[in-house]
Amino acid sequence: MSFNSIKGFKDILPEEVGYWQRLESAARRIYTAYGFQEIKTPVLEWTELFSRGIGEETDIVSKEMYTLTDSKGRGMTMRPEATASVVRAYIQHRLYGKNPIRKLFSIGPMFRHEQPQLGRFRQFHQINAEIFGDPGPRSDAEIIAMAMQLFETIGLGDLCLNINALGCPECRPRFRDELRAFLQDKADGLCADCLRRRQTNPLRVFDCKVDGCKGVIADAPSIPDYLCGDCDGHFGEVQALLNHLNISYMINHKLVRGLDYYNRTTFEIRTERLGAQNAVAGGGRYDGLVKLLGGPDHPAIGFAVGMERLVALLQESGGPGAERSGLYIAALGEDAEKAAFQWAFQLRKSGLGVDMSYQSKSLKAQMKQADRLQAAHVLIVGDNEMASGVGLLRDMDTKEQSELSLKDCVARLTELLG
Ligand code: HAM
Repeated sequence: MSFNSIKGFKDILPEEVGYWQRLESAARRIYTAYGFQEIKTPVLEWTELFSRGIGEETDIVSKEMYTLTDSKGRGMTMRPEATASVVRAYIQHRLYGKNPIRKLFSIGPMFRHEQPQLGRFRQFHQINAEIFGDPGPRSDAEIIAMAMQLFETIGLGDLCLNINALGCPECRPRFRDELRAFLQDKADGLCADCLRRRQTNPLRVFDCKVDGCKGVIADAPSIPDYLCGDCDGHFGEVQALLNHLNISYMINHKLVRGLDYYNRTTFEIRTERLGAQNAVAGGGRYDGLVKLLGGPDHPAIGFAVGMERLVALLQESGGPGAERSGLYIAALGEDAEKAAFQWAFQLRKSGLGVDMSYQSKSLKAQMKQADRLQAAHVLIVGDNEMASGVGLLRDMDTKEQSELSLKDCVARLTELLG
């Protein structure tokens, strides 16, 4: 009997890992520069955290959660997203205690029982960033700027930023009523889910992927027409700040996002190159969530990057997964192999990445292996080099070769490449 991975759960193979590392290290560097600290939360949480936080009527909670039951009959769910978990940790550990403004990021797997397709998996990975404690538009613009900086840094400067304003508990009820009234006589065009949603949570009709529902919603009332003065002012400020930072965007009044906790600014970063799964990142303000989950009335805003989708774009754009690094020692003949084995041991101790062949092989075979391993340099040593005490050091990018004294080669290589 043999096993394959479960549908929608995929292996990330060593050949691909370079892209993941590039993305992760760029995010760590950039987010740290913006004052974010890393937090790691468990994969398993009480189910109520998500059903309350994300909303019972969302696709995520109503259809997509991986839920199991503990011995006392209490539901536990594999996190479908990270925001509710980070908010739980923020409340549980009073992370607001010392510092009213708290910026947190987290990286890890999420689980949603969706139909797998290009860019959509059942286990996928996100990089999340959340700012707690600031209600103003500057944190909205800052977090969007940070997202755009990440994409530009990894070489994806051609993505499209969509923004929208969803209003607040003051103004959204009026919009919801208007939307419900609009949907009232559209029963023929709506799917069974949306017929229910138009009563329970009409905004969720905007998320529906069924063509008929998309057609109905095309003529629906538009949220910005219902914003209160404060929300309108906030959205105007966000746009002014983005203009000030020279960040291009598109206002998309249909962007409601698939989670109930959002208010005011929402945004999504999209690509034309991934078919239907076109969002590589999404987020927004969620000022009511900390209170809803039992914490103080602290505002917040955040977003998540979908790592699989970004890696697919990086692979498609043909950039290198990982840069060449380290040294390969191509040794020919017994004496050279013996010396190389010891040099490799010493060089690794001093922190340099070094590899060599376990078996005696031709120079051609060893150079091929060095290339496959993405070595930046190769030290070539055969009987002649051992006799003359001078080896050849080859730069694998430029193909240039220079002579290197073998007597003090460990110190010299550490100095040159370390
Ligand atoms: P979301 O839009 O559900 O938001 O997910 C964010 C990103 O995760 C998406 O734009 C997409 O790139 C990726 N993603 C989502 N589902 C899948 C999937 N099945 N397969 C592959 N990639 C996927 C959230 O999760 C919010 N918690 C974001 C947030 C953080 N809002 C505030 N803070």
